[in-house]
Amino acid sequence: MDAITTAKKAAGEKAASLVHPGMLVGLGTGSTAYWAIKKIGEMVKEGLNIQAVATSLASEKQARELGIPITSFSEIQQLDIDIDGADEVSEDLQIIKGGGGSLLREKIVALASRKRIIVADERKYVKTLGKFPLPLEIVPFGWELVFKTLQTLQGVPTLRTKDDQPYITDNGNYIIDCSFGVIKDPVQLHQQLKMITGIVETGLFLNLQPTVIIAYENGEIKAI
Ligand code: A5P
Repeated sequence: MDAITTAKKAAGEKAASLVHPGMLVGLGTGSTAYWAIKKIGEMVKEGLNIQAVATSLASEKQARELGIPITSFSEIQQLDIDIDGADEVSEDLQIIKGGGGSLLREKIVALASRKRIIVADERKYVKTLGKFPLPLEIVPFGWELVFKTLQTLQGVPTLRTKDDQPYITDNGNYIIDCSFGVIKDPVQLHQQLKMITGIVETGLFLNLQPTVIIAYENGEIKAI
């Protein structure tokens, strides 16, 4: 296992240790959250009694295969803890997510959770957001108009593709990855983007007061 994968595993397992009996748990998406779900699966096999809501079909599949009981928002109102990855975390704990395409469900789950744990390797921890192009979930109809509007906002948009076709989210939408350079005011940018008809959600996860677990390649783990 390479050093970055080892760091992701360490962050994920550290977050899993915060899951206690009886909790309702949000399961994130991506290669770091994967390790948390794997560890929670082991804990369930050893008798841990929890229920979980997954942020993507992929994570739900992983959880079901591990025997983690899955529930939904038709059964519950709130989660106790949400464990998820990030693409960028700034020093003031603002976050970009959506590199894996699951930002909408991830945000719904994060907002429904009392406690949010972000797991990341050291490469994700930055001074200011903006190096990672901001993922935007958009409605397929008229996506070209959203694309042009983003250009007028000085963004550099790219329609995400998979096998030369538009990438389709679990919700049947498209993703545009849009670079805005250094994001000095993420709240203002998020509000501006949410005003554009056709944009369903942005990958800016702001003011959520997360606990961020950062794992370093040298084995160190810091909780911020
Ligand atoms: C999924 O849509 C994303 O928000 C992921 O949580 C994020 O991209 C982090 O993924 P990795 O842990 O794979 O880097």
